Amino acid sequence: MLVYRAFSPRDTRRLGEALGKLLDPGDVVCIEGQLGAGKTVFVQGVAAGMGVRGRVVSPTFTIIHEHPGKIPLYHIDAYRLEGVPDAESAGVEECLYGAGAVAIEWPERIRELLPEERLDVEIRMPIDDGIDDGGGGRGTSGKGKRDGESLDDDEGDGDGDGDGHSDGDVSGAREIVLFPRGDRFRRMVEELKALAGPGY
Ligand SMILES: Nc1ncnc2c1ncn2[C@@H]1O[C@H](COP(=O)(O)OP(=O)(O)OP(=O)(O)O)[C@@H](O)[C@H]1O
Ligand SMILES: [Mg+2]
Repeated sequence: MLVYRAFSPRDTRRLGEALGKLLDPGDVVCIEGQLGAGKTVFVQGVAAGMGVRGRVVSPTFTIIHEHPGKIPLYHIDAYRLEGVPDAESAGVEECLYGAGAVAIEWPERIRELLPEERLDVEIRMPIDDGIDDGGGGRGTSGKGKRDGESLDDDEGDGDGDGDGHSDGDVSGAREIVLFPRGDRFRRMVEELKALAGPGY
């Protein structure tokens, strides 16, 4: 297990990038974390590390984005998937056993499909102090998702641009915890400890 402290989106991206450099076809990285935690930011780093060019945004509505690179990156947002048949028809299994590496946001939605060997990443946000600053947007996610999902959820893609991004900044600090499942990912996390630099 590796606990990494990211003080800014840049730190989160940098850890993702270090990871992306180590990924091979068939590798599966699952990124958990509440709305706006920074899952997509992390995947943007992974993509950069894999040599992907071009914009990486949450595949909220399309479920899967395939990015060409040295090897393809399959970026999956499983939030909207309802059960295994739904995931199958979206093409998730082809990605899991395809020619590229896979990064999955909201992997808990498709738990049954995940391979045993994988890297689980959890992005934790600081505990809400419970003080509502009166800012707008509470409970009005632009995605219309996560209703009642989380009590301290005051983030949302409330910017109205519908790009699947949560543009609001809660706080810069995140705790990113890596749980390797299987030897391959244990070795990878050991390597990351050396590569990721200061921050943990
Ligand atoms: N340390 C940090 N790491 C990552 N993002 C951060 C950090 N601090 C602030 N942020 C901000 O938090 C937001 C994270 O958005 P992002 O779209 O990556 O979240 P997400 O977890 O993918 O959300 P969703 O569940 O909607 O897909 C961005 O606006 C980013 O600038
Ligand atoms: Mg996202």
